[in-house]
Amino acid sequence: MILGEAGDLLGTWQYAERYLGGGTRAYSPFSTDLDVPDLYHPQVGADRFTVPTFVVPRRHGVFLHGHVRSAVAQLYRRGDAFLLPVHPATLTHRPLPGWEVLYHAERGPELSVVPAANTRTVFVERIDGVRVEPHFVKMHYPKRLSRFVRTLGEQAIRTQLWTYRELERAGLPVLTEAAGGVLGTSPDTAWGFLIRELHPRGGTTVGPGRGMAGRDIATDPPHHTVPLFALYGRDVRRPHDPTLMEQLIARGSEAPARWLARRVVVPMVRLWLRAVLKTGCAPELHGQNTLFSFDPDGGHTAVLFRDCDLFVDPATREAGGPNKGLPPVSVIGQDVREPVSRVFSLVYDSYMAHHALDRLAQVAADRLGVPTTHLHQAARETFTAHGGRTLPFPDTVFYYENQLLPDDGWRLRDTGATPTWRTPPTAATP
Ligand SMILES: Nc1ncnc2c1ncn2[C@@H]1O[C@H](COP(=O)(O)OP(=O)(O)OP(=O)(O)O)[C@@H](O)[C@H]1O
Ligand SMILES: [Mg+2]
Repeated sequence: MILGEAGDLLGTWQYAERYLGGGTRAYSPFSTDLDVPDLYHPQVGADRFTVPTFVVPRRHGVFLHGHVRSAVAQLYRRGDAFLLPVHPATLTHRPLPGWEVLYHAERGPELSVVPAANTRTVFVERIDGVRVEPHFVKMHYPKRLSRFVRTLGEQAIRTQLWTYRELERAGLPVLTEAAGGVLGTSPDTAWGFLIRELHPRGGTTVGPGRGMAGRDIATDPPHHTVPLFALYGRDVRRPHDPTLMEQLIARGSEAPARWLARRVVVPMVRLWLRAVLKTGCAPELHGQNTLFSFDPDGGHTAVLFRDCDLFVDPATREAGGPNKGLPPVSVIGQDVREPVSRVFSLVYDSYMAHHALDRLAQVAADRLGVPTTHLHQAARETFTAHGGRTLPFPDTVFYYENQLLPDDGWRLRDTGATPTWRTPPTAATP
């Protein structure tokens, strides 16, 4: 993709989700597994496809309000009932709790959608053929996409809405989780969907420098947004095009190493630390969850993120201030059995550093001659300056065991690798 020929916000974003990830998914033995029919596949699938909705009355399910006022959330309300979008590949899956209710349910309008990189979240462009404010729906998908089976149950939806509120209150640039809804009346088996807006309601951009401050993202978002992997991924349709980061760097006057440190690495490390230290919630900043926003001239840029399905550490949360409450699931020490230090290593060292930053640094070294040590150094200084050393971390990197476990279970193992994108903790970690 060549910037400038790329089109509007939506066209660029959709192309980037689908085709700019070449070479960015080699981080685990399961990362390229996708149990999806070709039609709905982000790379080989149709330009658009149709997602059916079902009218769910109150006796069969519940609409879950987010804490924000959202015009797109209203699109899914029908008086006391709501519209439940179901991915077409989920509809044919058995066992699907509540399928007989769906079978008899009134059909709602169809959504015209474009798949995003993770397959089960899609851009919604039209409802019943009528153009609507573009937004995402994230759907229940009880099949395996990379390591995990991508169900979306009631407890997980409630947790993601809860986590969104915490992160937004902390002023972080996370895409708005506006609302959700589930089919079923038992919280353990009910499943459903989430409605996500295209923009965050917090955060500031990195400005052009030379005394020019950043801009408020909520009121004045940068023009384009793409997944982070699209900065350093190959265009699978046009493999000879330069990467987006090469194009963006060429548009400005900053040296490549400075550009990458100042606009990508430092904001990512700061974002992670601010979220963890203020709320106890640990964002999973891999290449798909992390987003990069930019103006066409590259002057203002921002790191954003999406996906509030993340781990919460009660102890860090308590230390962060007068925080109240915990979500139903994903709580370390409750339903999450691994110790906090290992979980932080999974999220920081493996998801962010290994899955995303190592690859970005490799491409930056190969194509732009950026010394990897320069980027490591920027991350470490930021980590130390923003309180990272007070957090519990192990001496080595932890990641999942190299096998799939039944029921989507997981265990962490010590990889033995030394972390390169952070400094060691100040106190011994349990
Ligand atoms: N370059 C990439 N890096 C990481 N993950 C990728 C990449 N491209 C596609 N993916 C897919 O994105 C998904 C990441 O999983 P994750 O749990 O973060 O997202 P999710 O829960 O499906 O939804 P969302 O991010 O919309 O909330 C996986 O299905 C993975 O295969
Ligand atoms: Mg994700």
